[in-house]
Amino acid sequence: MQIIRSSIRYAESYCRAVGSVARERKYLATTEGFPPDSTRAFVQHIEQNNLAQYFAVENNEVIGWCDILPGQYPEMKHVGTLGIGILQAHRGNGLGKTLLDTCIYHAKHYNNIEKTELEVFASNSGAIGFYRKAGFRVEGVRVKARLIDGIYDDIILMYLFI
Ligand SMILES: CC(C)(COP(=O)(O)OP(=O)(O)OC[C@H]1O[C@@H](n2cnc3c(N)ncnc32)[C@H](O)[C@@H]1OP(=O)(O)O)[C@@H](O)C(=O)NCCC(=O)NCCS
Repeated sequence: MQIIRSSIRYAESYCRAVGSVARERKYLATTEGFPPDSTRAFVQHIEQNNLAQYFAVENNEVIGWCDILPGQYPEMKHVGTLGIGILQAHRGNGLGKTLLDTCIYHAKHYNNIEKTELEVFASNSGAIGFYRKAGFRVEGVRVKARLIDGIYDDIILMYLFI
């Protein structure tokens, strides 16, 4: 297993990994993933702008990813939004923590990001435990933000100064 910088070479594999976690229907805002073309453009943008996205790669396949991406407006570029996912079979082995630490280092030292924010479903107690352990704190709640299969879920907003 290798931790590598985001690269267009792995865009298709990353797209499959996001789709796989999305289709679990529990953890990501999307339940389908994203089309290969838009994923490719997304990765290209990240690569060209030296932004913080890393992949865990095993046997030439992306098995996990993490990114911390700055806001669109100049006045909000000191804040980065975190996204992370590990394929089901590879969770609980320290990969998430390694990817998170690597992304935080990059975001802080190369992109001048000072604060990392994220959104996590209240039902995702595993991820909330993971984030708390990494030092994240709750800064708010968006009540009944998701309605899936007839069940409402809140979104917890968390942050970490890096
Ligand atoms: C959340 C996720 C990224 C964590 O990655 P991971 O590789 O499974 O976690 P790690 O093995 O690196 O765990 C790192 C630390 O967090 C802790 N942790 C992990 N899961 C935890 C849980 N359910 N409760 C409490 N702590 C937890 C571990 O004990 C570990 O602590 P340690 O460093 O003291 O040993 C991963 O489980 C995942 O992809 N889940 C599904 C997708 C998802 O929820 N994405 C986030 C959407 S907001």
